[in-house]
This record gives sequence, C-alpha cells and structure tokens, in this order.
Amino acid sequence: MSERSRSLPRRSCLSTPGSSDRFLAKAPTATADMSFLDLEDSVAPNEKVAARAKVVNAIRTLDWDARVLCVRVNAWDTPWTYGDVIEVVGSAGPRLDEIMMPKVERASDVVAMDLLLTQVEKNAGLPIGHIGIEAQIETAEGLINVEEICAASRRLETIVFGPADFAASIGMPVTTIDETIHHGPSNPFSYVFAKILMAGRANGLQVIDGPFLKVRDTDALRFAAGITSSYGFDGKWALTPDQALVLNEVYSPSQELFDKSYDILDAYQIATEKDRTGALMFGDEMIDEASAKIAHSFVARGLRSGMSRSTL
Ligand code: GLV
Ligand code: MG
Repeated sequence: MSERSRSLPRRSCLSTPGSSDRFLAKAPTATADMSFLDLEDSVAPNEKVAARAKVVNAIRTLDWDARVLCVRVNAWDTPWTYGDVIEVVGSAGPRLDEIMMPKVERASDVVAMDLLLTQVEKNAGLPIGHIGIEAQIETAEGLINVEEICAASRRLETIVFGPADFAASIGMPVTTIDETIHHGPSNPFSYVFAKILMAGRANGLQVIDGPFLKVRDTDALRFAAGITSSYGFDGKWALTPDQALVLNEVYSPSQELFDKSYDILDAYQIATEKDRTGALMFGDEMIDEASAKIAHSFVARGLRSGMSRSTL
C-alpha cells in the first residue's frame, strides 16, 4: 500500500518486538499513527526465525485500523533479510504498507530491497510497488550517502534517523539516548538532523526521528522531540503507548498556529485576487507568497493529523 501510506501522518511510530505475543496483541490499541513490528534489534538472535510467523499472524488477525503498518527486517549483513521479506510480505502482504530497512549504508542496499520486493509481490499476487520502504540512517557511512539513498527507489516513503546505532557508529561517549545528548558541549546531532532532513525533503520523503530510551520521562521526551519537530521532522519513534501520546502532540501544529495559517491563506487570497497585491500587512507582519506556502504546509500537516479550524 505504498500509495495509501505515503502521505499518512507518522507523528508517532510505535515499535513492537516481533517475538512478543503480548506486545503484538497490545500494539493496535495504542494511539499511534504508525506501528512497526520489529524483527531486528529488539528480537534475540535465537528468536529471529520464529518471530516471523508471530508477526505474520499479528498482521493478518489483529485490527490495525487505518494506521501505517510496517515490519522492520534485519540488515543485509545478517543471514535473515531475504527470509524475513519472503515470509512476511509473502504471507501478510495485503495489509502491510512498508518494510523498514535498518542500517542502510548505500543506495544499492535500497535497490536490492526494491528488486526483492518486486519478486515477492509477483509471487504473492500483489500489485508491483504495493510495499513501500522506510530506510534507517544509523551509521557514519549511511549519513555520508544519505542523498543517494533517499533517491534510490520510488518505494521509499520515509528516511529515519537511528540515534542509538548512530552514536555507536561515530564513537559518541554516551550509554543511552536521552535529552542530555542535546546539551553536550558538542552536539553532532544538529548536523545529522539537518542533513537527513534536506536529503529527505529533496526527494519528497517524510523524515522521522528515532527512539528516546528513557521511556518513563515524558518531560524529557517532550524536550527532545521538540528539537526535531522544530527542524520540521514529521514524527518520532515511540517505545511505549504513553510516548506515542506525547509525540502526537509535539508533532502537530498548535491550534493557534493552525488557525493563524488559515487566516494567512484567507488574507493572502483576498489581497492577490481582489486587491491585486502580492505583499500585504497581516497584523504587524509583512506577508507574501512565501508566507502563504508556509501557511499551506502547516494547514496540510494539521489536516493530516485530524485538526479542524476553530476560527472563522
Ligand atoms: C534505532 O534503531 C536506533 O539505533 O536508534
Ligand atoms: Mg538501530
């Protein structure tokens, strides 16, 4: 359902270990925009193969409503990737929207997945292009190549930052991913965020931030999520349903901003169509075509999140 899910909201992307029947059963009850069932790092090596059938069963039997539904497979340098894709897409393809690829390092990683998906779709009787791809950038090499990666396949829907693996890859002296990484004397993440955002946007992708590991501290999560939200990221991973609730708020425009954006669009339309002027005063701000574009993007983001205008 690549076309179905491409523009759906992903403010909160809930991670669920694919080896846990209990967590799988609970996942669809969380208020999350997107759910991904994990076959990678939250599954122990000796559970990898058995987890595939659990994930297939969860996709086929649970009610996932309209949310984006994804499975994270193992990376190409493991023995499991092709088996994950064949079993999951082959057996649960119709409701599955996307495959998430971890530790993507070069464009050819994505091209290989695209080719494999095409064969599996053919054998499963699915439309070609039905399954979208989410690519995680989690290593220095992946970051260096992110521009080519984002342009590698029309199946790509999102580019996702993986801060934990990334911190390991660059030798960052931290033992967890929490708000303190943003306060350090040097913070390489601001470069990372900007680079991933530009590469994603240049290719029409949604851009997603990864996990926040101090799962009980919602204030700290709100702070950390506010940083990538202020860059323009579309959402962030949630490790618990409570984290998802915070993220749904942080990555939606405030009602005030949403209403103001509509007001700007109204004022701009009157100015350009009736008064035939391109720049105008809106309160004490000068606005023009570029302001209308910004307002459009806030309105689109708010509508995508189910908001409605409260002023008219
Ligand atoms: C997510 O996969 C991460 O490594 O942060
Ligand atoms: Mg990772």
